[in-house]
Amino acid sequence: INTEDTAARNKTAPNLYGLFFEDINHSGDGGIYAELIRNRAFQGSGVKLLNSGSTPYPYGTQEADIPYGPNLDAWRAIGDVRLSIDLLNPLSDALPAVLRVDVGSSATGEVGFMNEGYWGMDVRPQKYAASFYVKPWEQYYSGALSAFKLSLRSNLTDDVWTTTEIPITGKLDTFDYTKLEATLAPEVAAPSINNSFAITMDAAEVKGQTFYFSLVSLFPPTFKDRPNGIRKDLAEALKGLDPKFLRFPGGNNLEGFSIQTRWKWNETIGDLRYRKGRVGQWEYFNTNGLGLLEYFDFCEDMEMQPLLTVYAGYTLAPNGRNPASTVPREHIQPFIDEVLDELEYILGDARTPMGALRASHGRAEPYKLELVEIGNEDQFSGGSYNWRFPMYYEQLKAKYPDITFIATAGPDITPKMEIPAGEMWDPHYYQTPQFYKNNFGLYDNFGVSSYQNVTIFVGEYSVLSVDSSSGSVQWSGPGRIVYPTLDAAIGEAIFGIGMERNPNTVKLSSYAPLFQNYNSYQWTPDLISFSADPNQTTLSASYYQQKLFSHHRGTETLPITPLSGTFNPLWWAAQHDGGRDVIYVKLVNAANSAVPLTLEFDRAITGVNGTILTHDVRNGFNYITNQTAISPRALELDEVEAGASEWAWEVPKASIVVLEFS
Ligand code: AHR
Repeated sequence: INTEDTAARNKTAPNLYGLFFEDINHSGDGGIYAELIRNRAFQGSGVKLLNSGSTPYPYGTQEADIPYGPNLDAWRAIGDVRLSIDLLNPLSDALPAVLRVDVGSSATGEVGFMNEGYWGMDVRPQKYAASFYVKPWEQYYSGALSAFKLSLRSNLTDDVWTTTEIPITGKLDTFDYTKLEATLAPEVAAPSINNSFAITMDAAEVKGQTFYFSLVSLFPPTFKDRPNGIRKDLAEALKGLDPKFLRFPGGNNLEGFSIQTRWKWNETIGDLRYRKGRVGQWEYFNTNGLGLLEYFDFCEDMEMQPLLTVYAGYTLAPNGRNPASTVPREHIQPFIDEVLDELEYILGDARTPMGALRASHGRAEPYKLELVEIGNEDQFSGGSYNWRFPMYYEQLKAKYPDITFIATAGPDITPKMEIPAGEMWDPHYYQTPQFYKNNFGLYDNFGVSSYQNVTIFVGEYSVLSVDSSSGSVQWSGPGRIVYPTLDAAIGEAIFGIGMERNPNTVKLSSYAPLFQNYNSYQWTPDLISFSADPNQTTLSASYYQQKLFSHHRGTETLPITPLSGTFNPLWWAAQHDGGRDVIYVKLVNAANSAVPLTLEFDRAITGVNGTILTHDVRNGFNYITNQTAISPRALELDEVEAGASEWAWEVPKASIVVLEFS
């Protein structure tokens, strides 16, 4: 390992490790978006489509109908009431369906309704912010209602974990909705997540009356205490990766099922009352509560660079539902204008029309945005990207010359996409461990062709299936893995070393997909699995691989000349960390036996410590019941001999190792 010839070093890519997020697998609604109420505005929420039976991932074989609303998913009646959907008393044009509650004329006791949350509700001693809109039907309204009672209660027992009242003084408005708010503060933790949030009234005061409700919301404390913010424990799990950027909002979910249902930035901003949500591309309704500003705020709170993907006139509608479609060239300009407006909303000062709109939404100061990706996976677009990309690029670059634009197709389409010098290309890989071994050197010679001045953002990659005799990735069937295995992490680590060795080419990378809600998912494997119960959040083998590499990224690569041997079954790379003046040596042993290793340095070393990720079972994975089976362990290493410049060891079988030499 050459540590002394500083001229032979390359600067590492400081932002190599980042995140890609889209609302898939209920990772937004029911995931990082901290809202606890499922189907809060009666638009439907999607059901558990794909996690039953033995085939976890029938991509391409989804059930025929998508259960979008309006409906009463997740809601149940309490006492003598009838719940129904009403379309005649909309909360807004955006939220036309409301809950109609008819109280029986001889009702007694408690009457109302409750919501079971995203397959459970975590109740613990902390503050919950509740709000809802209500309007009585004037014709039957007596005005006797003295209070709404809000509670968090068990679904299994009579336990009520906390209750609070919203007193009604005078009469509720019967012309327009009234927004009511309260805080719930349980003093105990419920023993399980089998709980609901209830809004009830005293039947003696409201029998025979009718009320309309909408936008019923309940938030626990959020990451950095943002209103309408991000689920704390999941944000912290992400923070554990020390991510440098966040690519959002898709992925296929940017593109939508159809051009019309694409992710429209301007429908994700402003008061929730006016966000109508959309049919998400991943088979469930998206509330858009997690909108453009929420993403940008999250980036700031996490100290990650935003990497915004913008809709570019192409919708890849998978699963044979809709044909993939490109906006015809003669209709494309309004779509480009839509992106220009979006960028002005983010970057314009408050004197610009869109900047003023942003300021009216509470954020006067423009955000920082340096990375914009034009479209998603446009290599599938049958060549239309060849004319769309230049049209978008020309207009966006002219207005925002400092932004680096990322093309989603490149030499992988016919005719080959030309990407302007200085910009980036985002290829995606869902592959086998063997693919990543075979492609370890993929980027070694990149940049000798006309792509010389184009750098790489590996925006989506992961091991998706086990190796097969044909060498192909298995999108369906038992070969598709459900949770990231050690073998998967080994494949990704090998590719990771390949990326790290080419810091002048590969600048950014992100594993995909990021999250899986155990209760409703469309894609496996995923980096982090979770449910409403924070105790079930499981960080996968792949998560720990990412974490290990991202926390030891070093500032400069160090040249290594093999004394003997070649890559496979051992892969390696070394970096110098200028800040700490230590050397990181990353090793991956893909073999089923230990590999002897001798390292020679051109200077004396004074100490070594290390971390290993391994497991006895190569296709083992972390799960709710064995969350840390595959997780980093500190290595017990012999002390370095004084003055030594050589160090010998055996790299354990099937392992990912980071050594740190001082
Ligand atoms: O990560 C899941 C999907 O894979 C993404 O939405 C899409 O970009 C890719 O095909």
